[in-house]
Amino acid sequence: MDMTTTLVDHTFHKDVRRCFEKRTYAIPARWLYDRRGSELFEEITELPEYYPTRTETKLLKANGPAFAEAVGSNRAVIEFGSGSSTKTPHLLKAIDPAAYVPIDISGEFLEHSASLLQEEFPDLPIHPVEADFMKRVELPAAVANMPKLGFFPGSTIGNMIARTSVDLLRFMRETLGEGAQLLIGFDRIKDPEILVDAYDDSAGVTAQFSLNLLHRINRELDGDMPVEQFRHRAVWNDLYARIEIYLEAQADMRFSIDGHVHEMVKGQKLHVENSHKYGLRDARLMLRAGGWTPLHEWSDERDYFTLMLVEAHPYKHAP
Ligand code: TRP
Repeated sequence: MDMTTTLVDHTFHKDVRRCFEKRTYAIPARWLYDRRGSELFEEITELPEYYPTRTETKLLKANGPAFAEAVGSNRAVIEFGSGSSTKTPHLLKAIDPAAYVPIDISGEFLEHSASLLQEEFPDLPIHPVEADFMKRVELPAAVANMPKLGFFPGSTIGNMIARTSVDLLRFMRETLGEGAQLLIGFDRIKDPEILVDAYDDSAGVTAQFSLNLLHRINRELDGDMPVEQFRHRAVWNDLYARIEIYLEAQADMRFSIDGHVHEMVKGQKLHVENSHKYGLRDARLMLRAGGWTPLHEWSDERDYFTLMLVEAHPYKHAP
């Protein structure tokens, strides 16, 4: 086991302990994505009800010439949380970049997807960076003097609360530098029924995905949580403009994790994810709060999803 793995395991343990001992009944969403969780998430992206991936991919495919014109050629593309990099080829084909830097916290995933991408783009210099992009990231020297385009698709920003989103946007600005551009995906506010269905599909794949967190606790933290007595719930919170994902206890229960006994009562909920949705003005204001100036926007015909291109202009004094 290497250092990173040890550190991460420790944090999972700590986060789960805090959940039950401090009775926060919330577990950070990052723990949903073990191997099984990542597989199930791939399945989610293909569900009829889950429109975000399909819609954003279509936007990326359809607007190549417009990106090329707005972005220009010879930029280094820096992708934050690249994962399997499935959307990246569409962007790379459109803009003829000088280099590609995928940043991801999982080194294993990173090397694999970088080598797949290298096959598709044999002449493109690719410099993977294993790092936590929630802080400023040191970019490879090879791209230091290139103009930069950050890429943050998937409405991943929506999985953060507003304060964290703004922190992240500021860190991205520090990472990329003044004059850089950023192409970022936002899932739009829409009919709550469509939103709830996207996070609670009829085939039950999303339920399996969130319940996998409890299986993971049992597997990795020596737990005996009664997974079959929990129910997946997706709730629209209009005040916060977000979908909230919960695992709700269907009965009073008592279980142990790593030798510690915990109790939950019927109806009690574990909060495992938020997915914020944005109006155009909400998104623009948040971007500006993070130091980014809006340049261009691309939305699908139903206004389900928007890609925004923003730029890090030099800070000026008031007003
Ligand atoms: N980033 C995805 C989103 O918010 C993650 C996601 C999709 C998700 N479905 C989920 C997270 C269900 C938890 C539960 O759309």
